[in-house]
Amino acid sequence: MYPLRRNRRLRTNGAIRSLVRETIISPNDFLVPLFVVEGKGVKEEIESMPNYFRYSLDLLEHEVKELWKLGLKSVLLFVKVPDNLKDNKGAEALNPNGLMQRTIKTVKNACPDMLVMTDVALDPYSTHGHDGIVEHGKIINDATSDVLAEMSLSHAEAGANFVAPSDMMDGRILNIREALEGHGFTDTGIMSYSAKYASAFYGPFRDALDSAPVDLKDIPKDKRTYQMDFANRFEAIKETEMDIDEGADIVMIKPGLCYLDIVREIKNEVDVPVAVYQVSGEYAMLKAAAEKGWLDHDAVMLEQITAIKRAGANIIASYFAKDVVKLLY
Ligand code: PBG
Repeated sequence: MYPLRRNRRLRTNGAIRSLVRETIISPNDFLVPLFVVEGKGVKEEIESMPNYFRYSLDLLEHEVKELWKLGLKSVLLFVKVPDNLKDNKGAEALNPNGLMQRTIKTVKNACPDMLVMTDVALDPYSTHGHDGIVEHGKIINDATSDVLAEMSLSHAEAGANFVAPSDMMDGRILNIREALEGHGFTDTGIMSYSAKYASAFYGPFRDALDSAPVDLKDIPKDKRTYQMDFANRFEAIKETEMDIDEGADIVMIKPGLCYLDIVREIKNEVDVPVAVYQVSGEYAMLKAAAEKGWLDHDAVMLEQITAIKRAGANIIASYFAKDVVKLLY
């Protein structure tokens, strides 16, 4: 009770503030998303993601080594698939010599101890831009789940440590776990995008991979028949618990900032590590505001990352990972 307790005593100077600080950001917190393209000597900036790039494999090697030097030890891989290799069934996703499979090997060659996680979903491979196979105007669940299981196997064979299904089909975690177990990949983990919302914050990412859903008769242009309604809370817990029952080693909530209430609830509920994806739109918003001089980039970046960890994230997938680590260490 005041005046026996004056809370401001613990805020009087930097030393005491750092002594009582509850949330500390370290390079160990981060998972770094990487975008890869075909070609040589390519490092192209993504227009809606300033200072974030697509790399060809030769330049990716250099980037990965730099991440490792900074203490960033985990990457999440995404590939931009050439249009002529896209179809409705994701055939190219299973190509043992496909861009993703070559990327996994390249990263492991450059940096053998780097933890490699791979995105598993059909959207970069699909002429429609959907995460699943389209039939009669619908995204069909079980056939898609079978392709995702094969895709996961192919990534494991190429050397991925974790597969990260980002598609939100029902039952795909069990299907993937069984495929991995059945082929001896008992150590290959699954980080499931468990509570992935149908969010308008994914726009810049879809620019990065040229994977936005297309406008076609019969096919819904949004992903609301598989990604979650952003009005829902209980559903996030249900999805996450089901994924854990099906064999997910890590669960993820996505996007980040608008969903920190969900992060805390899930963190309190589950006994596996919880990851949060601070998505492309969140990155773009801060970059744009900072460019205009309206927000202090570094201060807001740190505040947001700290808020995500404080909410309960054990792992943060973020396009700011490198910037944060450079600023703090
Ligand atoms: C693909 C996928 C998406 C993201 C990660 N994996 C886009 C989508 O679902 O449309 C979004 C990441 C971001 O916006 O940074 N399944």
